[in-house]
Amino acid sequence: MSFEKNILCIGAGYVGGPTMAMIAYKCPQYRVTVVDIDPERIAQWNSDDLPIYEPGLEEIVKAARGKNLFFSTEIEAGIRESEIIFVSVNTPTKTFGAGAGMAADLQYWDKTARQIRKYSKSNKIIVEKSTLPVKTAQAMERILTSADNGIRFDVLSNPEFLAEGTAIKDLQDPDRVLIGSTQTPNGLKARDVLVEIYSNWIRRERIITSNIWSSELSKLVANAFLAQRISSINSISALCEKADADVEEVARAVGMDSRVGNKFLNASVGFGGSCFKKDILNLVYLCRHYDLKEVADYWEGVVRINDYQKERFILNMLNIMFNTLANKRICLFGFAFKSDTGDTRESPAIFVAKRLIEEKARVVITDPKALKNAMKDLESIAGEIAYVEDPYEASAGCSAIAVMTEWAIYADLDFKKIYRSMDKPAFIFDGRNILDHKKLFEIGFNVFPIGKPGLTHF
Ligand code: UDX
Repeated sequence: MSFEKNILCIGAGYVGGPTMAMIAYKCPQYRVTVVDIDPERIAQWNSDDLPIYEPGLEEIVKAARGKNLFFSTEIEAGIRESEIIFVSVNTPTKTFGAGAGMAADLQYWDKTARQIRKYSKSNKIIVEKSTLPVKTAQAMERILTSADNGIRFDVLSNPEFLAEGTAIKDLQDPDRVLIGSTQTPNGLKARDVLVEIYSNWIRRERIITSNIWSSELSKLVANAFLAQRISSINSISALCEKADADVEEVARAVGMDSRVGNKFLNASVGFGGSCFKKDILNLVYLCRHYDLKEVADYWEGVVRINDYQKERFILNMLNIMFNTLANKRICLFGFAFKSDTGDTRESPAIFVAKRLIEEKARVVITDPKALKNAMKDLESIAGEIAYVEDPYEASAGCSAIAVMTEWAIYADLDFKKIYRSMDKPAFIFDGRNILDHKKLFEIGFNVFPIGKPGLTHF
């Protein structure tokens, strides 16, 4: 069967895999191939046990796989046979050299650009899906055209705004799709090809186009604004605790102003995830690069408040539990960076667990999906850490429970039973404000939410 378009995606991760599955599912007339250098990952995409868990993903992969959706390690053939190539390789924060800890590490992305140049025999449209510093498209174009072999490459920016746990919903019905292109006739023609692909299932008014630099920058800025909301409310949570105010009441009052809006105002132990910190630091680095010190400092403050919130959580625990955590068993309810995922990247729980170990506490971790990742995250930490799937078993004999992830199951546990099995006095530190604090207090716990007065029996 011949297909209308041959689409390739390089990088079978959290973004590449689900996005391509959605395109293939919605557009049976296109052939979509996803390649990756990691054969194990590709084998998983071809198996019944997909490498990532996302509600609804399995259904769409199964519906399209083998028909017009293919997962493969054949990068060279993939490049040769496709007219449109999405680049969705990882761009983690650099850990070495100039910009270490701040700038994006572009080595995988650079290597991919060179591979595309090497194996291409015909004109291609290249779509940046990875989150990249502004002006990366220009670098991509320079690498691609440096071979001077008569092949034309048009580079587009098409950042992905999906969030983990809701990836399929976000792909199916996005708030917007953003496509940035150069404003040349070729750039605009390439842009229209991508618009046409998304138009198969997304209303045209939701597909917005812009110049390529605005598009690259918008992704960083969108994440910076979202994270800023969390840091804003978290900074106020510290004040609420001192002023006997309730951060949820404040957030409700503020969020009902339609200009502010009520989303992303849940105070917490801190935000995590693979994007927020990385993208803000990337933005900060860019600002410094352009000598915009005040702008860089302003955005860096979002990360600083997040670090402060995590440290504040630990210091509160220490202070409230009579200034010593040594030898006390502390149970972390949840380790994932948010609920409905096993992902633990940048999870505040990693920081909290490490700090508890520094205080010589004995840590017990429970999580319905993230225990394997938790073990990897903490493998180099010398200290007493146990991993227990069942929350009742995990909390038995502990002096405190600290809620790290907003898993719905935690609100429904039998806390009377848990209280009976714990060491006394028993403490709960609710880092996500998901529990019924008054009820817990009545059971006998000393309860410390985020941004609300504590409820104590002494
Ligand atoms: C985010 C963006 O939402 C998405 O658009 C972008 O493409 C990638 O980064 P993700 O990292 O999957 O997505 O998670 P998100 O749901 O945004 O949550 C990030 C962190 O903020 C989590 O740790 C979450 O628990 C925390 N959070 C979120 C809060 O602490 N309070 C809130 O009100 C909302």
